[in-house]
Amino acid sequence: MEIALTTLVVNDYDEALAFYVDAVGFELVEDSPSTANDGSAKRWVVIRPPGAATGLLVAEASTEDQRAVVGRQHGGRVGFFLQTEDFDAQYRRMRQAGVRFREEPRHEPYGTVVVWEDLYGNPWDLVQPATPTAEGPAAEGAAFPPPADVGEVLVSATDIARRVAELGAELTVDYADKNPLLVSVLKGSLVFVADLMRAVRAPLEIDFLAVSSYGAATRSSGVVKILKDLDQDIAGRHVLMVEDIVDSGLTLKFLLERFSTQRPASLKTCSMVVRDGVANQPEVDYVGFRLPPGFVVGYGLDAGQQYRHLPYIARYANTE
Ligand code: IMP
Ligand code: MG
Repeated sequence: MEIALTTLVVNDYDEALAFYVDAVGFELVEDSPSTANDGSAKRWVVIRPPGAATGLLVAEASTEDQRAVVGRQHGGRVGFFLQTEDFDAQYRRMRQAGVRFREEPRHEPYGTVVVWEDLYGNPWDLVQPATPTAEGPAAEGAAFPPPADVGEVLVSATDIARRVAELGAELTVDYADKNPLLVSVLKGSLVFVADLMRAVRAPLEIDFLAVSSYGAATRSSGVVKILKDLDQDIAGRHVLMVEDIVDSGLTLKFLLERFSTQRPASLKTCSMVVRDGVANQPEVDYVGFRLPPGFVVGYGLDAGQQYRHLPYIARYANTE
């Protein structure tokens, strides 16, 4: 079982949607006509954070009692908890959209948190849990038993899905009307780009490029070789390179230099994972997850071509 919906009582459907969808960044899942018990016309309106399992049923108050609870559904207690994998980006977005914050972000043992208010004054927490593994990767590991060489699950399939949906929502806004060319760097970014492109609600195209910088081992050879080049010309195109993981950044730097000489209209980068604590990495524009040092596999990432099909990202145990 799960809680699918909880009701948010509002004064007006459209002003509530303008706030939650445009300012906060929720997606509109459904907005269809329905009929109340007394026969009057209503709307069935569901919103949720992009890709999230639990949604909010937006319900327009139609009685005095209902109007009285708008903005104080929980008697002043924080009644809603919006969890994110990228606190900074979501906080920035909401501030830019003019959302009211009651305080500066706080760092607590359980994570980073800030209290904000919706348009009616309902208090919400925006929170990023202290560990990316807070949400039961163990349980998912059980559903898809890790092979012998595969260690701790660092990012669960659920966390990946949620983050991909968030990135997709960002790209939808940033690349609206730009018909970007997503350049998937094979083979590692295959799984990521397949999910990411379906999370973008705007026209786009995709092309592939295969490089190899690592041999069969888990250490960089320091050499980047183009195994398969792009099919099309990128001159005048808005190019978004989609990488699996940026470690030394050697591969990305090489490709950025190569592409920038081909006069794209813009050139940005997106990586599912950026390894923390590595000097001289190039700046990545859209980051899925920052992970601590240590070789990882799964969700497209391999060790000697194995483990790309794992639905989560896990530590690789057999690294010398
Ligand atoms: P970089 O050039 O050092 O940034 O590394 C680029 C490539 O090395 C990535 O695109 C991956 O294909 C591979 N790589 C780096 N770290 C890992 C890892 O932890 N697991 C699997 N592949 C990795
Ligand atoms: Mg790669």
